[in-house]
Amino acid sequence: MSSARTDKSSPAFIQTAARDEEDPAPSLIRGIDSPQASIPPWFLYDLIGSRLFDVITVLPNYYPTRTEAQIVATNLQAMCGARDVSGAALIDLGAASCAKAPPLFDAVRPAQYVPVDISVEFLRDAVTKLQTEHPEIEMIGVGTDFSKELVLPAEVTATPRLFFYPGSSIGNYDPPEARGFLKRVRRQMDDDATLWIGVDLVKDTETLERAYDDDLGVTAAFNRNILRNVNRVAGTDFRPAEWRHVALYNEAAHRIEMHLEARRDLAVTWKTGERRFAAGERIHTESSYKFTLESFDAMLRQAGLSTVDVWTDPQRWFAMFVVAPST
Ligand code: AVJ
Repeated sequence: MSSARTDKSSPAFIQTAARDEEDPAPSLIRGIDSPQASIPPWFLYDLIGSRLFDVITVLPNYYPTRTEAQIVATNLQAMCGARDVSGAALIDLGAASCAKAPPLFDAVRPAQYVPVDISVEFLRDAVTKLQTEHPEIEMIGVGTDFSKELVLPAEVTATPRLFFYPGSSIGNYDPPEARGFLKRVRRQMDDDATLWIGVDLVKDTETLERAYDDDLGVTAAFNRNILRNVNRVAGTDFRPAEWRHVALYNEAAHRIEMHLEARRDLAVTWKTGERRFAAGERIHTESSYKFTLESFDAMLRQAGLSTVDVWTDPQRWFAMFVVAPST
């Protein structure tokens, strides 16, 4: 572990909680072998999946990334004015390639930049490069699985803390998990801390479904790629070409669901077993929940947080909430 550094020109990297040591194969097989088959969505993000997701973010029909960037670009000064964040420790949750935080640096002037992802290895290249461009900001890359536990190292000393959770990543949790995540963030917030969180809003079904089933088939490839990753991790023999990408908006649950649908009767085998799928049978791979301003404000309250202010685009497709601990 590194201690306080006078030389900020090289970043620190700290793994506070290792990714589950447990072999993920048994639970993956259980999900595949159950009557309503499912695969946890984080298996979408291997090397190929992460690259495909980067392409998704620039597709014409995938509006969330560019709409959020537009909201932030237009309202950054107002967001900074809503609650004092100058000189903050800017804690970037799920930072990956660290692309979304640097546009905030001029307005926020963070004393520390703390990108957090499941493994410090995902952060190393991006943070090393960013540090040379911003030698005045102390950079501390943190590896932790914040979907289970949010542990920040003692080196994160700057105040106030500004947590940043963009991209509507909160939408990939089922509501109880989303509340649990928000409570974990709340526990890391003093009275002066702030959370900036991006959420995708409920809108017409066609716009939503087109965002998750694009003409180029990039999202289909992103979804089917999960099977390659599962083959690697669990030793299954899925053939991705035998599965059709399905994206549908479940209006009752306010969520987009991604599924993979068997094109014909087929069987998937692994070392100790087999699961037959009938033509048309589906594997659920991801949910992406959509909120109203009211429903998200209510969820924040349930986690001991409250809305200070919120900004949307003119079409009200996406929202950026500025959030504080409830008093
Ligand atoms: C950025 C992870 C929230 O749910 O919109 C994009 C993932 N899945 N297209 C989302 C995703 C299919 C995305 N997240």
